[in-house]
Amino acid sequence: MKLCMIGTGYVGLVSGACFADLGNDVVCVDKDFNKINRLKNGVIPIYEPGLEELVKKNYNNKRLKFSTDLNKSVAKSNIIFICVGTPTKKNSNFADLSQIYKVTKEIRGSINKFKIIITKSTVPVTTGDQIEKIISKKKPKKLFSVVSNPEFLREGEAIRDFIYPDRIVIGTNNSRSNKILKNLYSPLISKGAKYINTSRRASELIKYASNSFLATKITFINEIANLCEKIGVDIEDISIGIGLDKRIGGRFLRAGPAYGGSCFPKDTKAIVTTGDKFKTNLSLIKSVIKSNQKRTSLMLDKVNEILKGRIKNKNISFLGVTFKANTDDMRDSSSLLMIPSLAKKGAKVNYYDPTGEKKIFKKIKNVTYCENINTAIRFSDLVIIHTEWNDFKSINFNSVIKKKNFIVYDLRNIYSHSKMKKDKINYFGVGR
Ligand code: UDX
Repeated sequence: MKLCMIGTGYVGLVSGACFADLGNDVVCVDKDFNKINRLKNGVIPIYEPGLEELVKKNYNNKRLKFSTDLNKSVAKSNIIFICVGTPTKKNSNFADLSQIYKVTKEIRGSINKFKIIITKSTVPVTTGDQIEKIISKKKPKKLFSVVSNPEFLREGEAIRDFIYPDRIVIGTNNSRSNKILKNLYSPLISKGAKYINTSRRASELIKYASNSFLATKITFINEIANLCEKIGVDIEDISIGIGLDKRIGGRFLRAGPAYGGSCFPKDTKAIVTTGDKFKTNLSLIKSVIKSNQKRTSLMLDKVNEILKGRIKNKNISFLGVTFKANTDDMRDSSSLLMIPSLAKKGAKVNYYDPTGEKKIFKKIKNVTYCENINTAIRFSDLVIIHTEWNDFKSINFNSVIKKKNFIVYDLRNIYSHSKMKKDKINYFGVGR
């Protein structure tokens, strides 16, 4: 089929490349000329394992194209995926839908035959209704169908999550569109993906409810971890102990720093505004947002406690600064609050990240990027393991670090408490 992906970010570029790899003709459209030129030259603007090869393979076999011409690309495609950003509006909880409605009007002008217009971006419930209203101002309803098809891609695992989704959610009451989309996704369905057809609003809500539930699950285990530290038990035992209950499940039960990323913070806030709009108080999700927002200062209190209140002139190193491993995404990463706060208290902060130096830290005094792990930690009083990259999982701290009585604060519990004790390392984890 002829597909047009509008927006070449995490969602549009990954989905476009994967759809091309399934044999479809895909054109990825972006208004950013430089981005499109870089893509045509094989330069991928995002860090996503496996994406570069997938894009190059499908670009070379001409199944995947890049263009800045939205109108021409829409005109020659049957299915249009809207994959533009829906960030949280400044100083509010609302999703900013300006890009969605802007491209909707541009798509409208290029509808020359029946088109399926899909929101793959995460959009608040009833956005599909608005899109339908905007288009039907100028185009007859028989010429288009607006469908919700949310993505469930995790950064760092996006290609795998596309090829092996737990489910494909298609929100439409239009049987023609449903049939066409079931055919589009048939290669994944034949590999075991569940295909569910719901109303458009249900599909839009499924996305927010999914992310809010996952954020709740993580916040739950993080709060239990706080209790574990007071009681003196290991949160890992609790995660395993409850996770073996099939009704709970063991995934997303790893205690850590505050959750971050481009989705959980944004989507939990957005669903609360949807609740308010429909006069339904989503009190649990509101408390999840509050608990997570408080978590980073909890981590900082712990650093203060570990260093016995003496932070000034201490050498503190961060291993990893992105919101999680296997991504270069800094959005809502707890390091964005922790590093400036510690530097402000007079600590000398080194950091190393496998995805390289971060602009945001360049302008902060006493914060230095180091090219490798050893340089970052060699003279540390305190090493903070911030993300769970594999690179950080077998460091021989005693042989690398020159300082006596150095401390390791493992925010991802990637080391075994007992092994660190055996190696006589002052070790602190989360919930243990
Ligand atoms: C998430 C959803 O998983 C994905 O389905 C959706 O499409 C987009 O949002 P992503 O934000 O890429 O994906 O990251 P994810 O792996 O879900 O982690 C989100 C945050 O939760 C990260 O900060 C991560 O460190 C944290 N996390 C995750 C935990 O603290 N513990 C866990 O057990 C899992």
